[in-house]
Amino acid sequence: MKAKTVYSCQECGAQSQKWLGRCPECGAWNSLVEERAVPVAAGAGAASAAAGARYSLAAAAGPQLYENIDTVVSARLTTGIEEFDRVLGGGVVPGSLVLIGGEPGIGKSTLLLQAAAHFAHTTGTVLYCSGEESEHQIKSRGQRLGVERAPLYLLAETCLERILEEIARLRPALVIVDSVQTVFSLKFQSAPGSIGQVREAATQLLFAAKGQNIPTFLVGHVTKDGNLAGPKVLEHIVDTVLYFEGEKHHSHRVVRAVKNRFGAVSELGVFEMTGKGLKGVPNPSALFLAERPQNVAGSAVLCCIEGSRPLLVEVQALVSTSSYGNAKRMASGIDQNRLSLLLAVLEKRAGLNLIGEDVFINVAGGMTVDEPAADLAIVAAVASSLRNRPIRHGTAVFGEVGLAGEVRSAPQAALRLREAAQMGFSRVIVPDGNTAGDEAPPGCELVTVRNVGEALDQLMDW
Ligand code: TYD
Ligand code: MG
Repeated sequence: MKAKTVYSCQECGAQSQKWLGRCPECGAWNSLVEERAVPVAAGAGAASAAAGARYSLAAAAGPQLYENIDTVVSARLTTGIEEFDRVLGGGVVPGSLVLIGGEPGIGKSTLLLQAAAHFAHTTGTVLYCSGEESEHQIKSRGQRLGVERAPLYLLAETCLERILEEIARLRPALVIVDSVQTVFSLKFQSAPGSIGQVREAATQLLFAAKGQNIPTFLVGHVTKDGNLAGPKVLEHIVDTVLYFEGEKHHSHRVVRAVKNRFGAVSELGVFEMTGKGLKGVPNPSALFLAERPQNVAGSAVLCCIEGSRPLLVEVQALVSTSSYGNAKRMASGIDQNRLSLLLAVLEKRAGLNLIGEDVFINVAGGMTVDEPAADLAIVAAVASSLRNRPIRHGTAVFGEVGLAGEVRSAPQAALRLREAAQMGFSRVIVPDGNTAGDEAPPGCELVTVRNVGEALDQLMDW
């Protein structure tokens, strides 16, 4: 039995017979790593190969006539954590494979253990496989989280074949694998976390999830630049990809769906890390606006939409005279290029003199906003800081800014307005195009603007 050596790119998964300094597929340098695919040996390997062959995506073999297929409205299973159910699109879909990524220490294991405990209480047996912590460590964490007696099985195991065996034996209602990078298959000799291993683990777990209709959560590590480690194929294999966002220095965490076959993308759940684990935050706008300074220049409130949820966030700007030749422009929470573009629009269309000014933008609370409707808030914050005039009390904004300085309409205006009114804002600056059909909520005045100049006039007193 001769082991065959292949070199696979750790970035894109391309394979080559010999080592190359640069991947011919994706162009990444020094990304090819030797992997040995051994022919499946007798024993655990053979059992798993047989098991692998047994699993298929559907119970019935062969094609079926479209009209004969029952439309099972698969009831969603609740994790018992409302915010978590929300990002999943209303609960866990039976047989779905969900990948949860995030930086180390952000709370992935905590959230999943909490969900596992709830799930075990209400729905059925849960198998929690951990390759990162021992059963004792998980239990001591569970005690801190207040996990009580429940049909929750812990398995400190990294061998994929063993995990699959336990899944087949226990037939749990939910499986959690923490993390997919620690799992290895006996079929490959490469180290856990390498591309071949991660792909194999995800594929086999997919077959197990679909074949036995068991929802499965995989934890995934992220690389330094914030992408999920391992091959892109991992994201293609799974049904849902969730990302944990947030800064370690803040207590709140945002879980965002970036792919969801069963729900809206960019749906988000907001949590707060407490001494007893993660707690859902039902009213995130209040959290994000909690420490907002009143009557201070450079602070604008934006009504944004994340997934299907309206959210008020504070956009802060600091404009100060640059002491060096070229001015600094820094953005945190928004796209740097978008900031440059908006500054150019302000300069050219609204007559603001920003050359020689350092501009810093921050979305308070570590949030990231990437919708174009944030433009008007950024423009407002910059202008307010430059002129050193606070934005009028009780005013919120939204709207996209075009290169001609025009303010363009944003989707779901009614939702944004309702959220602003609920949070006690009495005036909302809205794009002119958004007024048709959108009624102002009671107690809230709509001010429509067509361009940046009008918006700035309405936002602050000069
Ligand atoms: P963890 O879930 O282990 O992170 P991950 O699995 O994403 O690597 O989270 C660990 C962090 O959470 C750690 O910094 C401590 C903190 N924490 C709390 O603040 N309260 C708690 O009740 C728990 C369990 C953890
Ligand atoms: Mg962990």
